[in-house]
Amino acid sequence: MDPPRGPCILAFCAVAPRIEDAFRAELRGLGASLLLLSPETGVLLAADDDPREVGPQPALWSAHGAGSAALTVVLLDERHRVRLRREAPEAVGTLLSAIRAAGRAVREAPRGLGRRELMVNSLAVALGAAALHACASPAPRPQPAGLAAAGPGMVEVNLTVNGEKRTLRLEPRVVLLDALREDLGLTGAKKGCDMGQCGACTVLVDGQRVNSCLKLVAQLEGRSVTTIEGLAHGADLHPMQQAFLDEDAFQCGYCTPGQILSAVALLDEGKPTSDDDIRERMSGNICRCGAYPNIVAAVRSAARRA
Ligand code: FES
Ligand code: FES
Repeated sequence: MDPPRGPCILAFCAVAPRIEDAFRAELRGLGASLLLLSPETGVLLAADDDPREVGPQPALWSAHGAGSAALTVVLLDERHRVRLRREAPEAVGTLLSAIRAAGRAVREAPRGLGRRELMVNSLAVALGAAALHACASPAPRPQPAGLAAAGPGMVEVNLTVNGEKRTLRLEPRVVLLDALREDLGLTGAKKGCDMGQCGACTVLVDGQRVNSCLKLVAQLEGRSVTTIEGLAHGADLHPMQQAFLDEDAFQCGYCTPGQILSAVALLDEGKPTSDDDIRERMSGNICRCGAYPNIVAAVRSAARRA
């Protein structure tokens, strides 16, 4: 079996892979596929598919996976060119560090890459890291033991995230979106444009909506951050989440966490006076699927019930 079309992450694991729903949501946004392989079996997860056993893949294994390392991640682009290959000879932590370093390099360095390609690759690398983490450790990433080691130029920031006190030690240039996704494991906020134009990364800071891709964590000492993960109370969805479900206000779902948080803040700022008012006040959140009519209906419905 050839790797699927589109960006594809091959993760070669010595242990049985564990597939998380969160991966599917990420894949949906990326248009990418994740193929987890071991010498005995393979599991393919595409955007909207359930995980599918694909059996041993000797050709792929010999092309990309065979080696002494127990864990290897290979990132293929649309033409199946190898964009990144990282091996972990011993520890998963080693590999995760290598992938994160590679992700930063992809984001910052190469010339001749289009912005979209850059975005897909950097997100795909992050997903590869998440996949390996799940392969190797069924337990959630430990916090706050996962604090970055203090070093020269690091800053310590105390903030409340979804009602929980957190302390982060990080470089002053780190933005909130990256800290949420990479340090705290809260991947609900999405990276779209990474330049304040799409609203996919919207979170609430002290109840106000902000583009987390533009907000430095170092500016947030003592502030309270709410992400989509913190909106529901247990099994009880927030009324805005329920309204989005009821009105079918999403297609791929990539923009949805940002849309919902933006809509929550909109209602806190004041009830909308009309559909045009909703459209105007939600204009910072772009939906590439064009689910706007249903999004407006969801906000209208939640406003009516508020
Ligand atoms: Fe922050 Fe687009 S990712 S506005
Ligand atoms: Fe797909 Fe909005 S971008 S639902």
